[in-house]
Amino acid sequence: MKLAALFSALALGIASFASQAADPVVIKFSHVVAPDTPKGRAADYFKKLAEERAKGRVKVEVYPNSQLYKDREEMEALQIGAVQMLAPSLAKFGPLGVRSFELFDLPYIFPNKETLYRVMDGDIGKKLFGLLDAKGITGLGFWDNGFKQRSANKPLHSVDDFKGLKLRIQSSKVLEAQMKALGANPQVMAFSEVYSALQQGVVDGTENPMSNLYTQKMHEVQKHLTLSDHGYLGYAVIVNKKFWADLPADLRDTLNKAMQETTVFERKIAQEENDEALAKVKAAGTTQVYTLPYRDRVVWQQAMLPVHKEFEEKIGRDLIQAAYQTAATVEKEKAAKAVAPAMKDKPGPVKATRPAKPEKN
Ligand code: LMR
Repeated sequence: MKLAALFSALALGIASFASQAADPVVIKFSHVVAPDTPKGRAADYFKKLAEERAKGRVKVEVYPNSQLYKDREEMEALQIGAVQMLAPSLAKFGPLGVRSFELFDLPYIFPNKETLYRVMDGDIGKKLFGLLDAKGITGLGFWDNGFKQRSANKPLHSVDDFKGLKLRIQSSKVLEAQMKALGANPQVMAFSEVYSALQQGVVDGTENPMSNLYTQKMHEVQKHLTLSDHGYLGYAVIVNKKFWADLPADLRDTLNKAMQETTVFERKIAQEENDEALAKVKAAGTTQVYTLPYRDRVVWQQAMLPVHKEFEEKIGRDLIQAAYQTAATVEKEKAAKAVAPAMKDKPGPVKATRPAKPEKN
């Protein structure tokens, strides 16, 4: 009996030594933004959770600020397995051949974050992730950043102010059409090149949520900023499909749970990060900050709305309609919940005759 116990203890010891000695699975997580942004902080948070929970079986190496790869290169690197995890913005999936992600780029399509999260976490999000399968990619979650603001070296108040301006965009055909609808000249450019392009006058302006604008120091080279919330920027966290499928099932489960928790964390901090960044830009005093009045939002929206129709086929009419429907449902639920009567000028979803007004929540 004693001998048997001794043998089993010995066997256990050898097994645990062997598992400790096995090399951890390395996950290279590459991204293009600064560590102190919603995405940057979430990547670090995921690393911490995943490494703790996997108890030495996983090592997550986070490479921020395009240190390893720029926008387009990182997608290719993921597909060939040179990196295992990315969180590209939803505007960067078009070049992969999955244009439906450009749904998120449609101007003023999401009146609030509730609508957005329902779209991401519901059937639309599932359908979008399904499209990645054929590209050798698995989607793990959608992360938030925020609504975009516009900057330039001249004030951007009316639609006419955009005429002829060279404006940097991400690699999305919807964003290209949106800039053209305003009379501007869109220039696709990697995120890592934007600051110097603005500084050298290669482009006149750009659009981004505040956290990106501030951490890339764009406010130092942009005299004017218009708070317009005209479009959205968020992310899909993706992994190399084969890498993910080949992981032991229990480890994949652990990592999936860590990702779910990270997503909750990420969405919680996104708005805070953007609010803080706006306060810092104001404090820096290099940029004049202008809040687009509601009456002008309506005009901007009318100018850009034809883009929705133009991209129906490329994105998928069903997806666009489902997003409108989600916005309408959220709006209805809010109205039903409101204790006070709804404000008279409260706008409905984008499809309604009155334009949607993004809310920060
Ligand atoms: C951009 O290129 O402007 C953004 O997609 C950067 C990012 O990842 O937030």
